[in-house]
Amino acid sequence: MIRRATPADAGQILRIYAPFIQYSAITFEYEIPELADFEQRIRKISSFYPYLVWEERREILGYCYATRFRERTAYDWVCESAIYVSEDARGKGVGQQLYEKLFVCLRAMNIVSVIAVVRPDGQSVPFHEALGFRKAGVIPYAGYKQGAWHEAGFWQFVLIDPVPSQPRHVKPFPEMADGLLQDH
Ligand SMILES: CC(C)(COP(=O)(O)OP(=O)(O)OC[C@H]1O[C@@H](n2cnc3c(N)ncnc32)[C@H](O)[C@@H]1OP(=O)(O)O)[C@@H](O)C(=O)NCCC(=O)NCCS
Repeated sequence: MIRRATPADAGQILRIYAPFIQYSAITFEYEIPELADFEQRIRKISSFYPYLVWEERREILGYCYATRFRERTAYDWVCESAIYVSEDARGKGVGQQLYEKLFVCLRAMNIVSVIAVVRPDGQSVPFHEALGFRKAGVIPYAGYKQGAWHEAGFWQFVLIDPVPSQPRHVKPFPEMADGLLQDH
């Protein structure tokens, strides 16, 4: 089932995420965060945006969330997404279902588009393109990790198409969460 993450999920989520910090440049983060800091991240993100987990028999197999893309007010209608599925659970539709639920939540908030920051040559590009994301741009030398420079690819998915000439006010996710997640 898909449900909202809580700070109590931090340990399981971190177990999925930590190998990407240690062994890859998929995330540009260098150090595995302390559990308390990670709990605080979940609290902060989910105070406004959706932070979702896929859980089976009390085990979290994947998660995704949205965050603010940039601070200035005109960026209200775009957000950034992140998604991670545990190695054993990949290729079974978990990522797709998590993202589709995330999109439902973001549309209900009146967010117009979502940007995934990906490695342009990475395996998550075909996943994002299968879900409707399109390449918006690539920044060379965006990050330095594990002794090498890495590009940051920006892939965008338009949630509300056609894009409204006058977007509606963005509403916080917690106000509507119960109604949107009860069908799972
Ligand atoms: C990218 C990721 C989230 C995909 O999750 P997943 O549960 O394995 O993906 P799904 O099984 O839902 O795949 C949905 C569709 O995406 C496409 N797809 C997924 N992974 C793919 C791959 N490695 N190569 C090509 N297409 C792929 C397929 O079209 C698939 O549909 P199909 O199985 O009917 O053909 C997962 O592989 C992952 O966690 N990767 C490591 C972390 C990462 O790169 N995250 C992105 C950073 S924001």
